[in-house]
Amino acid sequence: MSDIHVVVLAAGKGTRMKSALPKVLHRVAGVPMVDHVLASASDLDPTSVTVVIGHQANALQRYLSDRPRLTCVVQEPQLGTAHALLTAETALQTATGTLLVLSGDVPLLRAQTLRALIDHHHQSSARATIATAMVRQPAGYGRIVRNGERIARIVEERDASAEERDICEINSGIYTFALESLFEALGLVATSNVQGEYYLPDLVAIYVNRGERVETFTIADADEIRGINNRQELEAVGQVLKSRKNNELMAAGVTIEDAATTYVDPGVDVGADTVIHPGVSLEGNTTIGRECEIHSGVRIVDSQIGDRVIIYNHCVITSSTVASEGRVGPFAHLRPGADIRDGARVGNFVELKKTVLGAGSKAMHLAYLGDATIGTKVNVGAGTITCNYDGEKKHPTVIEDGAFIGSDSQLVAPVKVGKRAYVGSGTTVREDVPPEALAVSAGKQRNIENWAKTRKKT
Ligand code: UD1
Ligand code: CA
Repeated sequence: MSDIHVVVLAAGKGTRMKSALPKVLHRVAGVPMVDHVLASASDLDPTSVTVVIGHQANALQRYLSDRPRLTCVVQEPQLGTAHALLTAETALQTATGTLLVLSGDVPLLRAQTLRALIDHHHQSSARATIATAMVRQPAGYGRIVRNGERIARIVEERDASAEERDICEINSGIYTFALESLFEALGLVATSNVQGEYYLPDLVAIYVNRGERVETFTIADADEIRGINNRQELEAVGQVLKSRKNNELMAAGVTIEDAATTYVDPGVDVGADTVIHPGVSLEGNTTIGRECEIHSGVRIVDSQIGDRVIIYNHCVITSSTVASEGRVGPFAHLRPGADIRDGARVGNFVELKKTVLGAGSKAMHLAYLGDATIGTKVNVGAGTITCNYDGEKKHPTVIEDGAFIGSDSQLVAPVKVGKRAYVGSGTTVREDVPPEALAVSAGKQRNIENWAKTRKKT
């Protein structure tokens, strides 16, 4: 463990999002933006993480409960960023070492950048180090005002003179501080600005005037400090995360045919020589093996796909597994608990839920298989339905190895079809079928001769 403590500021209102959801819970690349910030922070193995919440505190607190080593403190009312940091004072009472201050709405910062910032801070023995960036359009950001080489203060856009507004070096809102006497200095921040708020950047001038060392650390890739204040920025930041992930996958040997339409969440793993066609979404806790082919329009969420699997077009796969050499789709729906074993095949318009489809088994056309355990080398005919729901409860269906289910059959659960048994086409199976038996339920066919000829002509 380090002597690093982290505070994430996330109490602000996020007015420009025009949303009922707290700003930092808006998803970017599949996860709430605050989780990107917390993930980078936890890479530093900090001793403590404190999140300052305020606006819609309850929703945020609920979301962040059960996180190890994370404390929420409530800032109410929200009187500015310096006031927000002061709110964390009690949580950090016994803390010593270095404090890293992050913003809940700046999710692109890489852990390695934060590490470099902290290293710089330690090497220069500064009291405060401000992460800055050079940007072409500094509007909206606090500007870094220098006295010769050294930083003198930070001025917010609204308080800046015309001359100061031309400064292209901006405050990223990311800082490191020596914890020693930090809160005492914070108490000196005043509200003499256009917004009448306690500004955290004002700490710079306070330290500089006291003769304390304040450093800046320039972040080379200005993209990293992009904040999210509205939906346009949410989309733009999402695009940056998307291309980061796609580039990472391509560098690791994955073919992506159209990166512009490929959405892979940060936590997804894809093996080398897998080919991803346009318009694919791989989400959540998903892994895809090697040499797979994922065709257009496929969405895979929280699922495990083995090696050399082909997923044909327009499948939706959620919380399921497809073992190596499996084939799924086109137009298949694997709902939670679908477990497609080695080499098994699921064809078009087939839906599976909580169902094992054993190795080498096939369900190629128009079927619903729910709460079923299907053995190896079973053939499930077109139009087979497991009638698993009696209006009150779900019941299981078992189909043993090598069985053959004829087309358009209904298996009324609970029911079991034994090894190598046959179910004739159009059978309603209400009772167990013994191994090797043939089940038929339809009555004898009756033909009415010349019926068509005697039909009334219209
Ligand atoms: C802030 C900085 C600005 C910097 C910019 C970088 C100040 C005064 N200005 O401006 O110099 O260039 O970030 O993105 O700090 N928050 C609270 N409580 C409050 C107010 C804000 O927790 O009372 C939180 C917000 O939720 C947000 C962060 O602090 O996560 C920054 O606040 P925001 O209002 O977005 O500041 P900016 O105007 O972006
Ligand atoms: Ca902001």
